[in-house]
Amino acid sequence: MPMVGLGTFRVENSDECKLAVKHAIESGYRHIDTAMIYENEVKVGEGIAEALETTGLKRSDLFITSKLWLADYGRNNVADAYNKSLERLGLDYLDLYLMHWPGTDEALMIDTWQGMEDLYKQDKVKNIGVSNFNVEHFEALLAQVSIKPVINQVEFHPYLTQEPLRRYMEVQNIHVESWSPLMNAQILDDETVQAIATEIGKSPAQVIIRWNIEHGVVVIPKSVTPSRIEENLDVFNFELSEEQVSKLDQINEDKRIGPDPSEFTGKDK
Ligand SMILES: NC(=O)c1ccc[n+]([C@@H]2O[C@H](COP(=O)([O-])OP(=O)(O)OC[C@H]3O[C@@H](n4cnc5c(N)ncnc54)[C@H](OP(=O)(O)O)[C@@H]3O)[C@@H](O)[C@H]2O)c1
Repeated sequence: MPMVGLGTFRVENSDECKLAVKHAIESGYRHIDTAMIYENEVKVGEGIAEALETTGLKRSDLFITSKLWLADYGRNNVADAYNKSLERLGLDYLDLYLMHWPGTDEALMIDTWQGMEDLYKQDKVKNIGVSNFNVEHFEALLAQVSIKPVINQVEFHPYLTQEPLRRYMEVQNIHVESWSPLMNAQILDDETVQAIATEIGKSPAQVIIRWNIEHGVVVIPKSVTPSRIEENLDVFNFELSEEQVSKLDQINEDKRIGPDPSEFTGKDK
């Protein structure tokens, strides 16, 4: 799985979306993240198709993720929702399909995961994972299912470093992926982030993306701006020192910009 991908949340199902995805792939991205609830799978798919034409890449060169929304939970609904996402994207498989949130009904969460396992066992999807799961969600899930999620996509940035959750994921051997890595651009104004950016001659966004990589966290910054799309992938020719990583870790405030996963029902997405 490529460590850096393109996020597409809050990107309308328009040519802006298609062009961002296309530009990303043409600039070297091999990993795109979308979800049914973003309502842009059609344009994401068009961007992928056009980029495959212009670059000569194959579908198998790309890593595409989408997510199952809460309204489609329940073992018997998963395959239908998955097939609809594939249809909108114009693809015949996904590299990763995620349960978008745990929800507040534990039995439904486990039943839904069994539907995810069905897809995987039938070879319809390459990998299955979850998003926004806390330790207690994993404790409940892992006690009752046969296939472990490969990854947990969660809010993660220097104001929300998720240390206990990341330690638990490491013990369970489950990868971590960060959403809103730039805190929807808010973290870019932080003094510590800016000081490190000046010190190493990189942009604040590059510092944050590199900080994710130093932590082994897969990262999916969103941008529709061509120069930023390129900038956000240009993070493999430098490293952060242990001291710089530690300084960024220390600005943690346990501050979320998204909902609390233990309470979120999706009713007011
Ligand atoms: N699983 C979940 O529940 C969940 C929840 C939220 C998000 N996500 C995923 O995570 C992805 C990223 O999160 P996000 O979209 O919330 O926000 P984000 O990536 O933290 O921040 C995006 C914002 O930062 C700006 N930006 C991007 N690169 C920049 C740069 N180099 N310099 C300055 N500004 C820059 C973008 O502006 P422009 O676009 O105008 O360039 C946009 O306003 C989403 O798109 C989605 O795929 C998942």
